[in-house]
Amino acid sequence: METSNSTAVPMPPPPNMRLGDPSTHDGVAMQGVSKRFGDMVVLDECDLLVNKGETLVIIGRSGEGKSVLLKNLVRLQEPDAGGIWVEGREVTGMEPPDLRELRKDFGFLFQGAALFDSMTICENVGLMLKEHTDWDRERIRARACECLALVGLDDADDKLPSELSGGMKKRAGLARAIVMQPQYILYDEPTTGLDPITGDAINDLILKLQRELGVTSIVVTHDMAGAFKIANRIAMLNRGKIVFTGTVEEIQETSHPLVRQFIEGRADGPLGVF
Ligand SMILES: Nc1ncnc2c1ncn2[C@@H]1O[C@H](COP(=O)(O)OP(=O)(O)OP(=O)(O)O)[C@@H](O)[C@H]1O
Ligand SMILES: [Mg+2]
Repeated sequence: METSNSTAVPMPPPPNMRLGDPSTHDGVAMQGVSKRFGDMVVLDECDLLVNKGETLVIIGRSGEGKSVLLKNLVRLQEPDAGGIWVEGREVTGMEPPDLRELRKDFGFLFQGAALFDSMTICENVGLMLKEHTDWDRERIRARACECLALVGLDDADDKLPSELSGGMKKRAGLARAIVMQPQYILYDEPTTGLDPITGDAINDLILKLQRELGVTSIVVTHDMAGAFKIANRIAMLNRGKIVFTGTVEEIQETSHPLVRQFIEGRADGPLGVF
């Protein structure tokens, strides 16, 4: 891993990381999930609990495996070991039809937006509706436009992704993530590359989706001010494991050396530099 030169700091897991029986948890439970690419271990028997209705923010150095964790959660990448449960349903071991059904409950904002270049923004946003509902074109278009308006892209529906700025693509990806009214939304860096005002509006939207629709969210971000605004809890990923979870208050007050260095953005400390 990129941080292999960092010094290991042994810390006992905080009490709220102990899983109990993950198959009876009402939200998302990951237990002992490992993922490697070749001989590089990215997730190393990683445990994570996300309570139903909460917004859990995941922080961690670049390259630590945050995006890999999100993809493993819904098996867009296959975990090598461990178990994942969503409201008691075991995702690991699910057959493709059940997995497809489960994924309808999940909106995914990919780090790079991942729009299809040959499709208009409206078609990109409406794609899941086209594939998973019997709605006609007009109804799909109306719902796609509604989601685009929510992210401030009212006028972009007939544009191609290549005609959009990076921040606009990010917002189109967000519109696509919410189009099916998912119960769970996985946001991979929703505000990176956005100007501070648009970023704050996206954070407000994340809060609104949670408060008004009861959505459960996992948000990967490097934006600590945004994290403090939207999180119910914050978890830090380091060397393949969640090394800390706590509320905003707990993370602001913790003396955990890895967390302190990260949230203070200091190059000196146990995390190392590169
Ligand atoms: N499909 C893949 N094949 C091989 N290696 C991969 C693959 N996906 C991710 N990795 C590697 O796994 C590690 C973790 O990657 P990941 O994208 O999850 O990091 P991250 O924490 O999201 O970083 P960032 O904050 O920069 O987005 C990296 O070393 C990356 O190169
Ligand atoms: Mg990433």
